[in-house]
Amino acid sequence: MRSATRKLFRMVGFLAAASCAVSAHAQPSQVQRGEYLARAGDCISCHTANGGIPYAGGYRLDTPFGYLLAPNITPDNETGIGRWSSADFYRAMHDGVNKRGQDMYPAMPYDFYTKLTRADSDAIFAYLRTLKPVRNAVDINQLRFPFNQRWSMAVWRELYFDEGTFTPDPAQTASWNRGAYLVEGLGHCSSCHSPRNALGGIEQSKAFTGASIDDWFAPNLTSNLHTGLGEWTAAEIATYLKTGAVAGRTTAFGPMAEVVTNSLSHLSDADLAAMAEYLKAIPPNSSLRTGKPAPDASRVRGATLYMDHCGGCHQAKGRGIPGVFPPLAGNGAVIAPDPANVIKVVLKGLPQRGAYIPMPALGGQLDDQQIADIANYVRTSWGNTASPNSTAAMVARLRKDNR
Ligand code: HEC
Ligand code: HEC
Ligand code: HEC
Repeated sequence: MRSATRKLFRMVGFLAAASCAVSAHAQPSQVQRGEYLARAGDCISCHTANGGIPYAGGYRLDTPFGYLLAPNITPDNETGIGRWSSADFYRAMHDGVNKRGQDMYPAMPYDFYTKLTRADSDAIFAYLRTLKPVRNAVDINQLRFPFNQRWSMAVWRELYFDEGTFTPDPAQTASWNRGAYLVEGLGHCSSCHSPRNALGGIEQSKAFTGASIDDWFAPNLTSNLHTGLGEWTAAEIATYLKTGAVAGRTTAFGPMAEVVTNSLSHLSDADLAAMAEYLKAIPPNSSLRTGKPAPDASRVRGATLYMDHCGGCHQAKGRGIPGVFPPLAGNGAVIAPDPANVIKVVLKGLPQRGAYIPMPALGGQLDDQQIADIANYVRTSWGNTASPNSTAAMVARLRKDNR
């Protein structure tokens, strides 16, 4: 994913920029906190080209579908985020939607940054505002068709992305919670350390159990005694995060060396100890505490069909467009105990009603099983908690019913 060779150039440039990074606009304490949090999030590793000016973008991220160039996030008005508000910035971090209203590719790890509090997001934004604006136009999207179409990852978003600020677990210590916040959020550790499925979603049931990234292997971070950190003490883990080495165990040399140099070595001992405490508490090969269970095959089918046949109008996450397409999230017709209504609407469409345009009949394009899968999917997604009780037989019966 990222090469280790560019880090030296980057560090030199960064130190030069950091020394003039105090401005009159924002509270120094908020800016300093933001600088620290940007370190914890390792923003610089992606948002800096090899040998380029820190945060001015242009770094290439290879994917199986072509590549992306990370954008310029210095406060330049034309080519950076100079015209963004703190609310725009929070939307990018929390929802993965950019200022142009586009869904961002998850190469930007907003599926982790969504855990950030608003105050921490605002602090990072305040810090980025103090950087010298750099004019550097970056053409982000270098993916191949159809992946260069932002809707192509709609299914990924639908299945694997849930926005949500971190909620502390009151049964745990304050330091465990701080560690969880950093590991699961800004640190985005499991973006490298967890296996992904064919859609690029993290297999939550195997989170932190290790994964290949490019030609490197990011090892198991659970407490597994043989393949994980089971034999490491918390102090050894903290030492590794700070220095990249633990005598007698291992020394970072690949992508992790860069994570240590650019990010973890800048964190306080208290935060590193908290992260180590949290990692030590992950049971062997367990699921991510804050994650959700991996979807089953019929849900994946339902989500894919939904995005192909409904999402263009009813939008991702069933949110609709006010006055144009009704939302399906929380919609009474969708969550009624009997799925007949939603099945009939899909089969036969709806005439124009009130402000809404008509909905086309889709019965000709979809077979009975597909309609049952879609109905079950919309009945059980985005907070809808109806029973997934539609069947192909039910659809076949309603298809013949001409009332
Ligand atoms: C693993 C690489 C990676 C890391 C780490 C990363 N980003 Fe990004 N970021 C990207 C990519 C790639 C995009 C472009 C996504 C798109 O447009 O679909 C992006 C987009 C953005 C955007 C939107 C900019 C625009 O013009 O659309 C902002 C703001 C941003 N990142 C801020 C941050 C901050 C703040 C951090 C650290 C907390 C961070 N990023 C860490 C890769 C990364
Ligand atoms: C960019 C991908 C990437 C990210 C992000 C990442 N790691 Fe790693 N990590 C690796 C790789 C690859 C290795 C293997 C050694 C190397 O690269 O030098 C590794 C090694 C480790 C090791 C040593 C394990 C062993 O058994 O030798 C620990 C501990 C570790 N990472 C913890 C973390 C934590 C905690 C975070 C989040 C703050 C994190 N990593 C984020 C890729 C990553
Ligand atoms: C071309 C756009 C479009 C597509 C595609 C579409 N819908 Fe609709 N849908 C609408 C519109 C417009 C309405 C509102 C029609 C009306 O009330 O007159 C609607 C209404 C509905 C309703 C009734 C909601 C209510 O509040 O009464 C349901 C349920 C529904 N759609 C489900 C679906 C499902 C499931 C799919 C995919 C299989 C789908 N729609 C595809 C445009 C669309």
